[in-house]
Amino acid sequence: MSFSLFRASVRSTLATGCLPRAQLRNQLRSSIRKFSTETPAPKSNTTLYVGIGAAVAAAGAAFYAFSDSGSNAVKSGVQAAKVKANFVPTKEDYQKVYNKIAGIFDEAGDYDDGSYAPIILRLAWHSSGTYDKESKTGGSNYATMRFAPESQHGANAGLNVARDLMEDIKKDFPWISYGDLWTLGGVAAIQEMNGPKVPWRPGRIDGVQAQATPDGRLPDGSKGADHLRQIFGRMGFNDQEIVALSGGHAVGRCHANRSGFDGPWTFSPITMTNDFFKLLLEQTWVWKKWNGPKQLEDKGTHTLMMLPTDYVLVQDKVFKKWTKAYADDEALFFKDFSAVCAKLFELGVPTEQWVTSEPWIMKNADEK
Ligand code: HEM
Repeated sequence: MSFSLFRASVRSTLATGCLPRAQLRNQLRSSIRKFSTETPAPKSNTTLYVGIGAAVAAAGAAFYAFSDSGSNAVKSGVQAAKVKANFVPTKEDYQKVYNKIAGIFDEAGDYDDGSYAPIILRLAWHSSGTYDKESKTGGSNYATMRFAPESQHGANAGLNVARDLMEDIKKDFPWISYGDLWTLGGVAAIQEMNGPKVPWRPGRIDGVQAQATPDGRLPDGSKGADHLRQIFGRMGFNDQEIVALSGGHAVGRCHANRSGFDGPWTFSPITMTNDFFKLLLEQTWVWKKWNGPKQLEDKGTHTLMMLPTDYVLVQDKVFKKWTKAYADDEALFFKDFSAVCAKLFELGVPTEQWVTSEPWIMKNADEK
């Protein structure tokens, strides 16, 4: 059963009512609450969905094909059941979430460079970049960074700031899944920092601790080209996509108390540009003399930094070709960055879970 069909069925069931509406809603809520607060013992996903499916079915909301165990109808049903019993969010509802996220970026005050957008983008990327195409585990679907030990992995240091900000948004929109919320945050961050539009669609569902990913799936900034190809290849990205994705370092900064590295990559760390690539090519980069991990600094001002993994984008022949292309043509970078971020944020989500077959373009907060 398709998701839209399922939603229609839930809606009509609610309308015709096998149970009094209030009772049905309460039963649905309690089965949902059970799912979101209790961490079941490790189980296969199939078992998990069957269990949830049974709970939802027991609530009277659906007497459909739950015997089709582990099916996508069940997964979609879970997503549908997670919304208030008679509330099915529309694109406009997701736009409201987007606008609310965009609103908090500017509330950063003295935090870093005056915006939370870069760290929200990093949250979206780290929650998606755990994907392993062989085992089809990880990715943005289950938002498993909510759980220890994944939340404590070295690569995720500092992301508690972003998760806490998102938790505040979630209070206003309890129906949205964490995976949808975090990736929509990434889209808002890119777009609100003057970057390109990034196609996005909802459909991720909240997972459980047992689905958390092992340490070591995210890139290590102190390594080289082979490491980048191995890590991003595991996610399904090629050389061109690796370079485009690395352009995310046009914004934000490193924090000595988080990653050990220190400083911003560009002079405009809260505006998306192709400056990361231009600076890589135009500046003279020297190893920073300091009591910290190996990183580069620009010889001219000593205020900018590059990670060893950033620097390989001008050392490796193939990577350098793309670095040059993006330095020469910001429109090309924006086009490729949009496509590769859209792909990144969808990693690990089964096709059948999407609420819409065509991704949406969300409006910027100030767009009518
Ligand atoms: C290529 C491999 C990558 C490596 C090794 C890497 C590594 C890092 C490190 C070490 C930091 C500093 C964290 C801190 O100290 O706060 C960082 C920050 C950041 N990264 Fe990456 N990253 C990579 C790819 C990406 C990608 C693909 C994106 C997005 C598309 C991205 C977006 C960001 C942003 C926006 C920040 C700044 C966060 C802030 O300002 O708090 N990175 N990255």
